[in-house]
Amino acid sequence: KNIAIIMGGYSSEANISLKSGTVVYENISKEIYNTYKVHILKNKWVLVDDNNQEFPINKHDFTAEINRKKISFDCVFNAIHGHPGEDGTLLAYFKLIGLKHTSAPFYQMALTFNKRDCLSVVKQYGIKTATSYYIDKGDEINIHEIVSKVGLPCFVKPNNAGSSFGISKPKTTEEITPAIEKAFKEDTQILIEEFLDGPEITIGVLNFKGEIKVLPMTEIVTENDFFDYEAKYLGKSEEITPARISDEIHKKLKKTASQVYKILNMSGFSRAEYILVNNEPYFLEINTVPGLTDASLIPQQAAAAGISLEELFHNAIEMALN
Ligand code: DAL
Ligand code: MG
Repeated sequence: KNIAIIMGGYSSEANISLKSGTVVYENISKEIYNTYKVHILKNKWVLVDDNNQEFPINKHDFTAEINRKKISFDCVFNAIHGHPGEDGTLLAYFKLIGLKHTSAPFYQMALTFNKRDCLSVVKQYGIKTATSYYIDKGDEINIHEIVSKVGLPCFVKPNNAGSSFGISKPKTTEEITPAIEKAFKEDTQILIEEFLDGPEITIGVLNFKGEIKVLPMTEIVTENDFFDYEAKYLGKSEEITPARISDEIHKKLKKTASQVYKILNMSGFSRAEYILVNNEPYFLEINTVPGLTDASLIPQQAAAAGISLEELFHNAIEMALN
């Protein structure tokens, strides 16, 4: 079977995605699958071979031609964080041309990539979430209204983004306007959330051999003010897997995490963030193309579960093909 591992994307997370995609490429057995790296970048869609030679992808049917030989794919492994991989855009196109992929269907991807919309759905099912305030580009900004709703400190986030790009944690009213300006550099929509005081637990959930599997959980302990880009990728945090929580809380989190996966009709990979407030899980967000780099959490969680990367990626492909 021919597998295209798509990586890159058009967002600030492109470089992280190139790393995730490379980890995927390096951990899929070439004896079982014919794997190809495909870079989806703003200025080009290209298949990249091991000599870094590039072959254009035909956007009409997502095929490539190498030395007059047409390469078509049986399955796409989606390693694109952000637009257009994680937000469903490309997946709608794959559905249209009849190409299988490792992600959830495009609608689930679009819904979950929009933080506000995703939160409003899970809330309907009794999942706890932070109080939030939403702003669209062009809306009048009323700092007083924001502070009276979410309090201080708070989190200002682009509504559609990842890897903490554009996020800040203002502690005073003066810090809110620059935080909003920063977030607007990433997105046209902004979500401002109350600060939830408690440990952050991140939970990988995936379809493993046809069943919903909750991986060992990770507790995030960061030296920085919050789990920002530096904390995520430049070692400014301690990631403790399995998390130091009681059996009872573990049980509660596991139940919530699989419930959220089901509510959102997920399939494939996911990694969701929770804050424990008085031992109650508050859902922050779900990542449907979680990072797979050496610094990322899903590989650590899989290792703690005794699942190798090769097994993890083969499973994703088999689940997509069947
Ligand atoms: N958005 C990054 C890649 C993550 O969730 O791991
Ligand atoms: Mg995220």
